[in-house]
Amino acid sequence: MTVVHDPLRIGSLTVRNRLYRAPVLEGAGSGPDAAEAYVKAFAPNAKAGVGLVIQGSACIFEEGRTSPGMTLVNTRQRVLELRPVPDAVHLHGGSILLQAGHGGIYSMEAWHEPYASQRSGPILAVSPLPRLIRAAFIGVPIHVMTTDEVHAMVTRYGEVAAWAREAGYDGFQLASANAKLLDQFLSPFYNKRTDEFGGSLEKRAHVLRLIRASVAERAGADFPCLVKLPAEKAPPFTPRSTAEEVVRLAKLCEEWGYDAVTPVEVSVLPDTTLSRGGVPAQLWRNNAITTRFRAAAPSRFRRAVLTAGYVLGGKQHPFTPVWNRHLFREVKTHVGIPVFAVGGIRTADEVASILGNDEADMVGIGRPFYAEPDLPQRILGGSREPVLCRNSNHCVPPQMLGMKGVCYNPDVKKEKAARATTAGAGATPGTPG
Ligand SMILES: Cc1cc2nc3c(=O)[nH]c(=O)nc-3n(C[C@H](O)[C@H](O)[C@H](O)COP(=O)(O)O)c2cc1C
Repeated sequence: MTVVHDPLRIGSLTVRNRLYRAPVLEGAGSGPDAAEAYVKAFAPNAKAGVGLVIQGSACIFEEGRTSPGMTLVNTRQRVLELRPVPDAVHLHGGSILLQAGHGGIYSMEAWHEPYASQRSGPILAVSPLPRLIRAAFIGVPIHVMTTDEVHAMVTRYGEVAAWAREAGYDGFQLASANAKLLDQFLSPFYNKRTDEFGGSLEKRAHVLRLIRASVAERAGADFPCLVKLPAEKAPPFTPRSTAEEVVRLAKLCEEWGYDAVTPVEVSVLPDTTLSRGGVPAQLWRNNAITTRFRAAAPSRFRRAVLTAGYVLGGKQHPFTPVWNRHLFREVKTHVGIPVFAVGGIRTADEVASILGNDEADMVGIGRPFYAEPDLPQRILGGSREPVLCRNSNHCVPPQMLGMKGVCYNPDVKKEKAARATTAGAGATPGTPG
């Protein structure tokens, strides 16, 4: 029976155990202190025993980030400057992947005023916009990518992977879910192309096949390359990628040489279905956040659209423990490569049952790391003390607005202080129970 302490082989990489930090943004940006911000976030995770860190998504082109704090990896120089990050994780025995992607129509140049007013080109789209969302893009110049441009993007993915390897990362993951550009290719909600990249599931996923080959060619066939696979929720009577398609896609990805898959159920729209939980009310309650929000989206209409995404996401998809279980469990029965679990996993017991029942090979936790960098110690130790994270999603809007990736929930801060006081008074929170 697999337990969390068992090492796992992912292609040519062996990670020391089955616990990974799921990719969440750190707001590290691309300035001179970007590497330092990542080191500050990840070194304590590695020191606390996490097997693998997947760094939150970075952007492959100069434009296309979904938030100002997202790191650019569009040049070799920029990626090499991140070298201290893998070094710090390796120092403590952990492994780290670089995740990279592009926002497509949800790039901040489409809606974040200071960036929109200075954008150098139009917003990249897979196809003309679905009718349902057109109103939100009035005045936004949309450009449907030509076949050649898609091939150029494929090349760039390979280059970024090669630079990541040179910088010391242990592998590469595609930011291919969460309504981002690659998801827009995979999804029949967005993809209406008639060239080699549109049509059947195989054709919509053709871009993944080419990217895998590009990564192998440029970074080396042994450089691990992982992919996220979205099963989609969508408004009634609109097309979406189904769970059944994700199983087929996982099999194709295995055939194409991907080293692991992460199946996730997300909305076709960029809302909080990807991080199920509360409605992040800090967006209209916290002064620092509201001020940034008004500056980013001066138009009331645009602010209303963005807010609606959070409110609807939170109302329609509240927190449910281990909400992707049905999906990763199903995929696991169809592929031989490692399957990564993520989404609402909070306890050592949940981790043990996912691994023990052979439902996935690697178990990821995301938001709780913001408040508890040393969480791995407790999960690996079998602690029954609940995580501090309340799944309130207070961490989400600040990310969108370029603030640091930390916990913004005041109740969590209070609870953390209370636990620290109790610990100082002689109790031993976090011991195995
Ligand atoms: C603020 C924030 C940023 C995120 N950034 C990314 C990202 O860059 N790439 C990605 O694949 N998923 C991203 N996610 C999704 C997480 O990886 C994870 O799937 C999700 O939070 C559910 O796991 P959890 O319940 O353990 O938090 C993000 C989620 C949040 C809340």
